[in-house]
Amino acid sequence: MKQFISVHDVKDINAFVEKALAYKANPLKDQELGKGKRIGLIFLNPSLRTRLSTQVAAENLGMKPIVFNVGSEGWTWEFEEEAIMSGTTVEHVKDAAPILGNYFDVLAIRTFPSLQNKKDDYSELFIKQFIKYAGVPVVSLESSTLHPLQSLTDIITITETFKEKRKPKIVLTWAPHIKPLPQCVSNSFAQWINAWGEADFVITHPEDYELDEQFTKGATITHNQDEALKDADFVYVKNWSTYTDYGRIYCNDPAWMLTEEKLKTTNNAKVMHCLPVRRNVELSDEVLDSSNSIVTQQASNRVWAAQTVLAEILKGNG
Ligand code: CP
Repeated sequence: MKQFISVHDVKDINAFVEKALAYKANPLKDQELGKGKRIGLIFLNPSLRTRLSTQVAAENLGMKPIVFNVGSEGWTWEFEEEAIMSGTTVEHVKDAAPILGNYFDVLAIRTFPSLQNKKDDYSELFIKQFIKYAGVPVVSLESSTLHPLQSLTDIITITETFKEKRKPKIVLTWAPHIKPLPQCVSNSFAQWINAWGEADFVITHPEDYELDEQFTKGATITHNQDEALKDADFVYVKNWSTYTDYGRIYCNDPAWMLTEEKLKTTNNAKVMHCLPVRRNVELSDEVLDSSNSIVTQQASNRVWAAQTVLAEILKGNG
Protein backbone atom coordinates (compact mmCIF):
# COMPACT_ATOMS: atom_id res chain seq x y z
CA MET A 1 0.00 0.00 0.00
CA LYS A 2 1.48 3.34 -1.07
CA GLN A 3 -1.22 5.66 0.25
CA PHE A 4 -4.34 5.58 2.40
CA ILE A 5 -6.61 8.47 1.49
CA SER A 6 -9.96 6.78 0.77
CA VAL A 7 -11.77 3.44 0.65
CA HIS A 8 -10.37 3.00 -2.88
CA ASP A 9 -6.97 2.23 -1.34
CA VAL A 10 -8.38 -0.88 0.36
CA LYS A 11 -9.05 -4.06 -1.63
CA ASP A 12 -10.94 -5.96 1.08
CA ILE A 13 -12.57 -4.04 3.94
CA ASN A 14 -13.42 -7.17 5.94
CA ALA A 15 -9.82 -8.37 5.74
CA PHE A 16 -8.72 -5.00 7.22
CA VAL A 17 -11.32 -5.35 9.98
CA GLU A 18 -10.05 -8.85 10.81
CA LYS A 19 -6.46 -7.58 10.99
CA ALA A 20 -7.51 -4.67 13.19
CA LEU A 21 -9.33 -6.98 15.62
CA ALA A 22 -6.24 -9.22 15.73
CA TYR A 23 -4.19 -6.15 16.75
CA LYS A 24 -6.81 -5.33 19.38
CA ALA A 25 -6.37 -8.85 20.82
CA ASN A 26 -2.56 -8.71 20.60
CA PRO A 27 -1.30 -5.11 20.14
CA LEU A 28 2.45 -5.89 20.17
CA LYS A 29 2.50 -8.92 17.85
CA ASP A 30 4.25 -6.98 15.04
CA GLN A 31 6.75 -4.98 17.12
CA GLU A 32 9.55 -5.82 14.69
CA LEU A 33 7.72 -4.60 11.57
CA GLY A 34 8.47 -0.91 12.02
CA LYS A 35 11.81 -1.20 13.81
CA GLY A 36 14.17 1.56 12.63
CA LYS A 37 11.37 3.38 10.75
CA ARG A 38 10.02 6.87 11.42
CA ILE A 39 6.58 8.32 10.75
CA GLY A 40 5.96 12.07 10.58
CA LEU A 41 2.49 13.11 11.71
CA ILE A 42 1.81 16.50 10.14
CA PHE A 43 -1.14 18.45 11.54
CA LEU A 44 -2.40 21.58 9.84
CA ASN A 45 -5.44 21.42 12.15
CA PRO A 46 -6.22 20.41 15.76
CA SER A 47 -6.74 16.81 16.91
CA LEU A 48 -6.96 14.61 19.98
CA ARG A 49 -7.91 11.09 18.84
CA THR A 50 -6.22 11.01 15.44
CA ARG A 51 -2.95 12.38 16.73
CA LEU A 52 -2.64 10.13 19.80
CA SER A 53 -4.12 6.91 18.35
CA THR A 54 -1.76 7.08 15.36
CA GLN A 55 1.21 7.67 17.68
CA VAL A 56 0.22 4.66 19.81
CA ALA A 57 -0.36 2.54 16.68
CA ALA A 58 3.07 3.45 15.28
CA GLU A 59 4.78 2.64 18.59
CA ASN A 60 2.94 -0.71 18.76
CA LEU A 61 4.60 -1.53 15.44
CA GLY A 62 8.02 -0.47 16.70
CA MET A 63 8.07 2.79 14.69
CA LYS A 64 9.13 6.16 16.01
CA PRO A 65 6.39 8.77 15.53
CA ILE A 66 7.21 12.48 15.47
CA VAL A 67 4.38 15.03 15.50
CA PHE A 68 4.66 18.40 13.76
CA ASN A 69 1.79 20.81 14.39
CA VAL A 70 2.55 22.83 11.30
CA GLY A 71 -0.79 24.67 11.57
CA SER A 72 0.16 26.26 14.90
CA GLU A 73 3.96 25.97 15.03
CA GLY A 74 5.24 25.94 11.47
CA TRP A 75 5.40 28.23 8.46
CA THR A 76 2.11 28.70 6.64
CA TRP A 77 2.04 26.48 3.54
CA GLU A 78 1.05 27.37 -0.01
CA PHE A 79 -0.54 24.60 -2.11
CA GLU A 80 -1.39 26.32 -5.42
CA GLU A 81 1.03 25.71 -8.31
CA GLU A 82 2.69 28.85 -9.68
CA ALA A 83 1.36 30.92 -6.78
CA ILE A 84 2.86 34.39 -6.36
CA MET A 85 3.55 34.12 -2.64
CA SER A 86 3.14 37.76 -1.72
CA GLY A 87 0.33 37.08 0.78
CA THR A 88 0.18 35.13 4.04
CA THR A 89 1.77 31.86 2.88
CA VAL A 90 5.49 31.48 3.63
CA GLU A 91 6.57 28.06 2.34
CA HIS A 92 5.36 26.08 -0.69
CA VAL A 93 4.37 22.44 -0.17
CA LYS A 94 6.63 21.75 -3.16
CA ASP A 95 9.58 22.77 -0.97
CA ALA A 96 8.39 21.45 2.40
CA ALA A 97 7.05 17.98 1.47
CA PRO A 98 10.25 16.56 -0.13
CA ILE A 99 12.24 17.59 2.95
CA LEU A 100 9.76 15.75 5.19
CA GLY A 101 9.99 12.80 2.78
CA ASN A 102 13.73 12.72 3.45
CA TYR A 103 13.30 12.82 7.21
CA PHE A 104 10.60 10.11 7.39
CA ASP A 105 9.80 6.67 5.95
CA VAL A 106 6.05 7.32 6.10
CA LEU A 107 4.13 10.59 6.35
CA ALA A 108 0.61 11.23 7.59
CA ILE A 109 -1.19 14.53 7.26
CA ARG A 110 -4.34 16.32 8.41
CA THR A 111 -5.55 19.02 6.03
CA PHE A 112 -9.08 20.30 6.70
CA PRO A 113 -11.09 22.02 3.93
CA SER A 114 -11.28 25.78 3.59
CA LEU A 115 -15.11 25.56 3.33
CA GLN A 116 -14.64 28.66 1.13
CA ASN A 117 -13.40 27.14 -2.13
CA LYS A 118 -15.47 24.08 -3.04
CA LYS A 119 -13.46 23.36 -6.21
CA ASP A 120 -10.13 23.18 -4.34
CA ASP A 121 -11.62 21.30 -1.40
CA TYR A 122 -13.41 18.69 -3.53
CA SER A 123 -10.39 18.21 -5.81
CA GLU A 124 -8.42 17.40 -2.61
CA LEU A 125 -5.81 19.94 -3.68
CA PHE A 126 -3.93 19.98 -0.34
CA ILE A 127 -3.40 16.26 0.22
CA LYS A 128 -2.82 15.55 -3.48
CA GLN A 129 -0.11 18.21 -3.65
CA PHE A 130 1.46 16.77 -0.48
CA ILE A 131 1.45 13.24 -1.95
CA LYS A 132 2.88 14.55 -5.23
CA TYR A 133 5.92 16.07 -3.55
CA ALA A 134 6.45 13.85 -0.46
CA GLY A 135 8.10 10.91 -2.24
CA VAL A 136 7.13 8.44 0.53
CA PRO A 137 3.81 6.71 1.39
CA VAL A 138 1.16 9.10 2.78
CA VAL A 139 -1.71 8.38 5.16
CA SER A 140 -4.67 10.76 5.46
CA LEU A 141 -5.37 11.88 9.01
CA GLU A 142 -8.47 13.63 7.54
CA SER A 143 -8.43 15.57 4.31
CA SER A 144 -10.76 18.15 2.76
CA THR A 145 -13.54 15.68 1.96
CA LEU A 146 -12.75 12.37 3.70
CA HIS A 147 -11.67 10.81 7.00
CA PRO A 148 -10.76 7.21 6.10
CA LEU A 149 -9.12 6.18 9.40
CA GLN A 150 -12.33 7.22 11.17
CA SER A 151 -14.50 5.25 8.73
CA LEU A 152 -12.38 2.09 8.99
CA THR A 153 -12.68 2.45 12.78
CA ASP A 154 -16.44 2.80 12.47
CA ILE A 155 -16.78 -0.45 10.51
CA ILE A 156 -14.48 -2.25 12.99
CA THR A 157 -16.73 -1.00 15.83
CA ILE A 158 -19.95 -2.04 14.08
CA THR A 159 -18.52 -5.48 13.21
CA GLU A 160 -17.39 -6.26 16.76
CA THR A 161 -20.70 -5.00 18.23
CA PHE A 162 -23.31 -6.53 15.91
CA LYS A 163 -23.52 -10.31 16.22
CA GLU A 164 -26.89 -11.10 14.53
CA LYS A 165 -26.98 -13.09 11.28
CA ARG A 166 -28.56 -10.30 9.22
CA LYS A 167 -27.51 -6.92 7.89
CA PRO A 168 -27.64 -4.16 10.54
CA LYS A 169 -29.73 -1.08 9.86
CA ILE A 170 -27.33 1.88 10.10
CA VAL A 171 -28.65 5.45 10.15
CA LEU A 172 -26.41 8.47 9.59
CA THR A 173 -28.28 11.45 10.99
CA TRP A 174 -27.44 15.14 10.67
CA ALA A 175 -27.28 16.97 14.01
CA PRO A 176 -27.33 20.67 14.91
CA HIS A 177 -24.10 22.59 15.53
CA ILE A 178 -23.12 26.16 16.25
CA LYS A 179 -20.74 26.61 13.30
CA PRO A 180 -20.19 25.26 9.78
CA LEU A 181 -18.29 21.94 9.88
CA PRO A 182 -16.68 19.97 7.04
CA GLN A 183 -18.56 17.13 5.33
CA CYS A 184 -15.52 14.80 5.67
CA VAL A 185 -16.71 12.36 8.33
CA SER A 186 -20.16 11.98 6.79
CA ASN A 187 -18.86 11.69 3.20
CA SER A 188 -16.33 9.12 4.31
CA PHE A 189 -18.76 7.11 6.45
CA ALA A 190 -21.19 6.96 3.51
CA GLN A 191 -18.42 6.00 1.10
CA TRP A 192 -17.16 3.16 3.32
CA ILE A 193 -20.59 1.79 4.33
CA ASN A 194 -21.69 1.76 0.68
CA ALA A 195 -18.46 0.04 -0.40
CA TRP A 196 -18.75 -2.45 2.48
CA GLY A 197 -22.25 -3.42 1.30
CA GLU A 198 -23.14 -5.23 4.52
CA ALA A 199 -25.76 -2.85 5.93
CA ASP A 200 -29.20 -1.44 5.29
CA PHE A 201 -27.97 2.16 5.11
CA VAL A 202 -30.14 5.26 5.61
CA ILE A 203 -29.04 8.91 5.66
CA THR A 204 -31.33 11.54 7.17
CA HIS A 205 -30.84 15.31 7.15
CA PRO A 206 -32.84 18.53 6.78
CA GLU A 207 -33.63 19.84 3.29
CA ASP A 208 -30.65 21.54 1.58
CA TYR A 209 -28.07 19.43 3.48
CA GLU A 210 -27.60 16.87 0.68
CA LEU A 211 -24.08 15.42 0.60
CA ASP A 212 -22.15 14.82 -2.63
CA GLU A 213 -23.82 11.94 -4.48
CA GLN A 214 -20.45 10.36 -5.31
CA PHE A 215 -20.33 9.27 -1.64
CA THR A 216 -24.00 8.68 -0.80
CA LYS A 217 -25.13 6.77 -3.92
CA GLY A 218 -26.65 3.47 -2.77
CA ALA A 219 -28.02 4.80 0.55
CA THR A 220 -31.68 5.58 1.24
CA ILE A 221 -31.95 9.33 1.87
CA THR A 222 -34.83 10.96 3.75
CA HIS A 223 -35.62 14.30 5.40
CA ASN A 224 -37.80 12.50 7.96
CA GLN A 225 -35.55 11.68 10.92
CA ASP A 226 -38.29 9.83 12.87
CA GLU A 227 -38.96 7.53 9.92
CA ALA A 228 -35.23 6.93 9.40
CA LEU A 229 -34.61 5.99 13.05
CA LYS A 230 -37.30 3.28 13.13
CA ASP A 231 -35.73 -0.14 13.86
CA ALA A 232 -32.18 1.21 13.53
CA ASP A 233 -29.40 -0.94 15.03
CA PHE A 234 -26.81 1.87 14.85
CA VAL A 235 -27.33 5.63 14.79
CA TYR A 236 -24.31 7.66 13.66
CA VAL A 237 -24.72 11.28 14.67
CA LYS A 238 -22.82 14.03 12.83
CA ASN A 239 -23.22 17.64 11.84
CA TRP A 240 -22.10 18.89 8.44
CA SER A 241 -22.42 22.23 6.65
CA THR A 242 -24.19 22.56 3.30
CA TYR A 243 -22.51 21.02 0.24
CA THR A 244 -24.46 22.54 -2.66
CA ASP A 245 -24.34 26.19 -1.53
CA TYR A 246 -20.98 25.43 -0.02
CA GLY A 247 -20.00 25.59 3.66
CA ARG A 248 -23.05 27.26 5.18
CA ILE A 249 -25.52 26.67 8.01
CA TYR A 250 -29.19 27.03 6.95
CA CYS A 251 -30.86 25.04 9.65
CA ASN A 252 -29.67 24.70 13.19
CA ASP A 253 -32.96 23.20 14.34
CA PRO A 254 -32.53 21.81 17.89
CA ALA A 255 -35.28 19.29 17.06
CA TRP A 256 -32.62 17.30 15.14
CA MET A 257 -30.61 16.65 18.35
CA LEU A 258 -30.66 12.92 19.19
CA THR A 259 -32.47 12.25 22.48
CA GLU A 260 -33.53 9.18 24.50
CA GLU A 261 -37.10 9.79 23.33
CA LYS A 262 -36.05 9.51 19.69
CA LEU A 263 -34.14 6.29 20.38
CA LYS A 264 -37.35 4.57 21.55
CA THR A 265 -38.39 3.59 18.02
CA THR A 266 -34.97 2.11 17.22
CA ASN A 267 -33.89 -1.47 17.85
CA ASN A 268 -32.22 -0.32 21.09
CA ALA A 269 -29.68 1.28 18.74
CA LYS A 270 -26.05 1.79 19.56
CA VAL A 271 -25.13 5.45 19.17
CA MET A 272 -21.92 6.50 17.43
CA HIS A 273 -20.14 9.83 16.97
CA CYS A 274 -16.57 10.46 15.80
CA LEU A 275 -15.98 13.05 18.59
CA PRO A 276 -15.41 15.77 19.64
CA VAL A 277 -19.12 16.23 20.35
CA ARG A 278 -21.03 19.32 21.48
CA ARG A 279 -23.09 17.93 24.36
CA ASN A 280 -26.74 18.96 24.42
CA VAL A 281 -26.38 20.48 20.96
CA GLU A 282 -25.66 17.44 18.74
CA LEU A 283 -26.43 14.73 21.29
CA SER A 284 -28.09 14.93 24.69
CA ASP A 285 -26.24 14.07 27.91
CA GLU A 286 -28.77 11.32 28.56
CA VAL A 287 -27.87 9.55 25.31
CA LEU A 288 -24.11 10.08 25.59
CA ASP A 289 -24.07 8.83 29.17
CA SER A 290 -26.36 5.85 28.51
CA SER A 291 -25.42 2.26 27.72
CA ASN A 292 -26.55 2.88 24.13
CA SER A 293 -23.55 5.12 23.52
CA ILE A 294 -20.45 3.36 22.14
CA VAL A 295 -18.46 6.52 21.43
CA THR A 296 -15.61 5.63 23.81
CA GLN A 297 -15.26 2.12 22.35
CA GLN A 298 -15.35 3.71 18.89
CA ALA A 299 -12.60 6.23 19.73
CA SER A 300 -10.48 3.48 21.35
CA ASN A 301 -10.67 1.47 18.13
CA ARG A 302 -8.90 4.29 16.29
CA VAL A 303 -5.61 2.68 17.41
CA TRP A 304 -6.36 -0.65 15.66
CA ALA A 305 -7.47 1.01 12.45
CA ALA A 306 -4.30 3.10 12.32
CA GLN A 307 -2.12 0.12 13.24
CA THR A 308 -3.63 -1.97 10.43
CA VAL A 309 -3.08 0.74 7.84
CA LEU A 310 0.50 1.44 8.95
CA ALA A 311 1.28 -2.29 8.93
CA GLU A 312 -0.01 -2.65 5.36
CA ILE A 313 2.16 0.30 4.32
CA LEU A 314 5.22 -1.11 6.07
CA LYS A 315 4.65 -4.49 4.38
CA GLY A 316 4.25 -2.72 1.02
CA ASN A 317 0.97 -4.58 0.48
CA GLY A 318 -1.19 -3.44 -2.43
N1 CP B 1 -12.57 11.90 15.38
C1 CP B 1 -11.42 12.58 15.25
O1 CP B 1 -10.80 12.61 14.18
O2 CP B 1 -11.00 13.16 16.41
P1 CP B 1 -9.82 14.25 16.50
O3 CP B 1 -10.27 15.42 15.64
O4 CP B 1 -9.70 14.59 17.94
O5 CP B 1 -8.58 13.66 15.94
